[in-house]
Amino acid sequence: MGRILSGVQPTGSLHIGNYLGALRNWVRLQDEHEGLFCIVDLHALTTHPDPAELRAWTRNTAAAYIAAGIDPHKNAIFPQSAVTGHSELSWLLACQTPLGWLNRMTQFKEKAGKKKDQANLGLYAYPVLMAADILIYKATHVPVGEDQKQHLELARDIAGAFNHQYGVNYFKLPEPLIMETAARIMSLRDGTAKMSKSDISEYSRIHLNDDNDTIALKIRKAKTDPEPIGETLESMEERPEAINLIGIFAALSDKPPQDICSQYTGSTFAPFKNDLAQLIIDTIGPIRDEMTRLLDDPVTLDGYMKTGAEHARQLAAGHMEEVYDIMGLLRV
Ligand code: AMP
Ligand code: TRP
Repeated sequence: MGRILSGVQPTGSLHIGNYLGALRNWVRLQDEHEGLFCIVDLHALTTHPDPAELRAWTRNTAAAYIAAGIDPHKNAIFPQSAVTGHSELSWLLACQTPLGWLNRMTQFKEKAGKKKDQANLGLYAYPVLMAADILIYKATHVPVGEDQKQHLELARDIAGAFNHQYGVNYFKLPEPLIMETAARIMSLRDGTAKMSKSDISEYSRIHLNDDNDTIALKIRKAKTDPEPIGETLESMEERPEAINLIGIFAALSDKPPQDICSQYTGSTFAPFKNDLAQLIIDTIGPIRDEMTRLLDDPVTLDGYMKTGAEHARQLAAGHMEEVYDIMGLLRV
């Protein structure tokens, strides 16, 4: 049985991109794997969240994991900062990471933009902390969306650099699990931009806690074009918004996008959007209701995270002792 680890930043309400690209796949993996799912609050600090909001979003994200179907009795669900080993290992691994590797990270380039000198060190070192998240548990598999593939490759390189530096075969290289069902969902306002928590427009995404009317409204307002739905996906290549909506429909109904195209060929977007909104409501509705129930009882919710953190801490502590020993850090 492999061990999976993944995480989401508690920087805002999760959206259907997080659900279809990440959470849903974690749920599907939990039967065959030991699962560790953290809420990466240390990563979130790179964006300077308000402290009260960070606490609230941490609970909100944990509630989303559980409501999406991750069983807190079988998996460890916990805030990253609850296991101090993540930060410690991050430093140890930073000393094995050439700057040249970090300079290649496209996410840093996107997030830092033109003001590279003003970006914080945390944002630059973000992928090293992510490598620590994974390696501290010797996770065998890491389910993430396509956008995190580069960070995962870096984690493998860092693990290899550590092994090479110390002449050991200590860290196994974690395998990315970028599942076929993991859809890359784009913004509802711009089919070329990723659906993101940080997009300024609320209309760009559907949150897991949107009510049914809001879902229907956002889908109605989603950008499309006046052309009817084409016969094949290829015929719609120049229509990213249309392809995105078909992709969401396909992911939610677990069918290939071409099947959805064929089903709606020649149709205008209005009836298609009605069906899509209903499909989203049928999927998200029960998750939203369960989230509300969980958030109404923070004692129980925090209890799940406490138990998860205790289990994670135990695993991490054993590995950290071994790493200290390999590196020659004197334990007194
Ligand atoms: P983030 O919201 O950037 O913290 O991402 C959390 C997880 O959701 C990661 O595994 C991402 O790959 C996944 N994810 C985020 N946005 C999308 C999206 N628009 N489409 C698919 N997966 C996504
Ligand atoms: N960087 C990931 C994201 O933005 C979140 C993350 C942090 C993560 N640590 C991780 C994902 C470890 C997988 C494994 O989506």
